[in-house]
Amino acid sequence: MKAIRPDSEVNAIRESCEIAAMVLRELELVVAEGINTYDIDQIGKEKIASYGAKSACFNYRHGAQIFPAHTCISVNEEIVHGIGRLDKVLNSGDIISLDVCVEYNGFIGDNAKTVAVGVIKPEVNELLNTTKSALEKGIEQVRAGNKVGDISNAIEKVIRPKGFGIVQEFVGHGVGKTMHELPQIPNFGSRGMGSVLKPGMALAIEPMVNMGTHRIRFLKDGWTAVTLDGKPSAHFEHTVLVTEGDPEILTKLKK
Ligand code: MF3
Ligand code: CO
Repeated sequence: MKAIRPDSEVNAIRESCEIAAMVLRELELVVAEGINTYDIDQIGKEKIASYGAKSACFNYRHGAQIFPAHTCISVNEEIVHGIGRLDKVLNSGDIISLDVCVEYNGFIGDNAKTVAVGVIKPEVNELLNTTKSALEKGIEQVRAGNKVGDISNAIEKVIRPKGFGIVQEFVGHGVGKTMHELPQIPNFGSRGMGSVLKPGMALAIEPMVNMGTHRIRFLKDGWTAVTLDGKPSAHFEHTVLVTEGDPEILTKLKK
């Protein structure tokens, strides 16, 4: 099957994804009881700059709104697109979702992960494990000739039996020169539906899973999505390349 972009562009996306992965790991290492989420975002800003990259979130526009932070940091019932705050201090038992999306050499790399602060309840740990394995099962479907629906369905099949809520308002997406490109990749769906995966496509796959209801609302900041019932939510994301063979997880750390 014919690749959708030249190798030079694939390599640029590779580099961007590698930076996004390194920044995410660095942020994960600073997560601890007592730190506030504004400081974590500021560290993210510095780390991104240290690689000569740019935050793809900062100044990101959605309608009339402009995203003010450098990373997305979402705690407990916050699902995605949280904005770091000085008064949001982490405690043992919290979970924190870190989402790092960078631009480097004109291309995007996007990844996210939810981590525990101190000791979390077993059922919250189960939420994290389920979301992570949903991402892994979705990634297994990233093969040339498969359809977007194969990814969606594989993700859904991990989550449904657990009784957790699948967020519908946000989806995975293609990445390239911009953060949100086609195809959209819902976290539920039917096998065989949607567009065909072709070599050279870079796909950000990102299940967002709520412990309770799938329903969401937004905070007054206009960005932060939270669960309607206030129960926790988890988010794992990788950017994955469609190849002639096995999926290549571009945001997987080399070491
Ligand atoms: N990984 C996030 C996404 O795909 C990045 C969002 S940045 C924001 O939606 F600016 F929109 F918050
Ligand atoms: Co994304």
